[in-house]
Amino acid sequence: MLFKFPTASMAREDEVTPKGLVLSRRSLMAVGTAAFAVGGLSGWPGLAQAAAFQAPTTVKPADGKLDAATPMKSATTYNNYYEFGTGKSDPADGASALRTRPWEIVVDGEVAKPTTIGIDDLLKFPMEERIYRLRCVEGWSMVIPWIGFPLAELLKRVEPTGNAKYVAFQTLLDPERMYGQKSWVLTWPYVEGLRLDEAMHPLTLMAVGMYGETMPNQNGAPIRLVVPWKYGFKSIKSVVKISLVKDQPPTAWNRSQPREYGFYSNVNPEVDHPRWSQATERRVGDFSRRKTLMFNGYADEVASLYTGMDLKASF
Ligand code: MTE
Repeated sequence: MLFKFPTASMAREDEVTPKGLVLSRRSLMAVGTAAFAVGGLSGWPGLAQAAAFQAPTTVKPADGKLDAATPMKSATTYNNYYEFGTGKSDPADGASALRTRPWEIVVDGEVAKPTTIGIDDLLKFPMEERIYRLRCVEGWSMVIPWIGFPLAELLKRVEPTGNAKYVAFQTLLDPERMYGQKSWVLTWPYVEGLRLDEAMHPLTLMAVGMYGETMPNQNGAPIRLVVPWKYGFKSIKSVVKISLVKDQPPTAWNRSQPREYGFYSNVNPEVDHPRWSQATERRVGDFSRRKTLMFNGYADEVASLYTGMDLKASF
């Protein structure tokens, strides 16, 4: 992830017409109150052909300051997915090897109703389109129209017990197809974790698509986590297991380099990475840098989760 300074993507916004962007521009209708404005989307003709999931409702973040979506071409060719190599273009080249059917997610641990749920049943969940910033810890960012459902909808179904304090996530282990898993670069499978209240937060999404289309393999097909106020590495791809647990679970990058990557990994311009500043970022496609926003711009929604915590110590 973190050893090379990223090169600028030269893709121009007019080189692609992201379906989700067209979709959302047409359909953003402010009718919501505190957290979101919600607009209806059913019946958009391109979507039914393009995607296997239900037509999503567009959910617009309350801040209203989002920039234009990053061109889909950049978001699908400039990736971090170490199971397919460490280069930014490796996942686009190699992730076609990933088999996304059959696919099941085991949801277990401290729950009353553990379950194993197939991807086609997950695709029946009511879908939302959410345009989120993705801020990578390396200092680049994108704006992506995701399609998915709040993780809370899945967690509520399994009925977490009073012992559930954290949620642990795991990516598929398949070294034959995910040939990067034969390398030493991380301990496999990739794992991640959230506190239960972070996992239940309405911004936390299980994404099955982007730009109005089914999730490309390199972006974490068939289903990935998206936690927009945290550095991108928390948004684990190709999830096969979600466990509700009592104790803080291990996470891939914290296990690899604990001094550099903490459990929380909230986007925070005031807490530098030991080897570089986090005060600014470069939006993929831009030449100049912009200021990084506290909690990646989602402070109004999530700052209260961390009241009383020392964010320098719990980085
Ligand atoms: N999930 C898995 N399983 N493997 C990975 O290497 N990389 C993470 C995260 N999820 C990664 C992962 C990092 S470092 C980032 S920045 C985001 O995915 C990148 O998501 P994107 O390629 O869709 O932009």
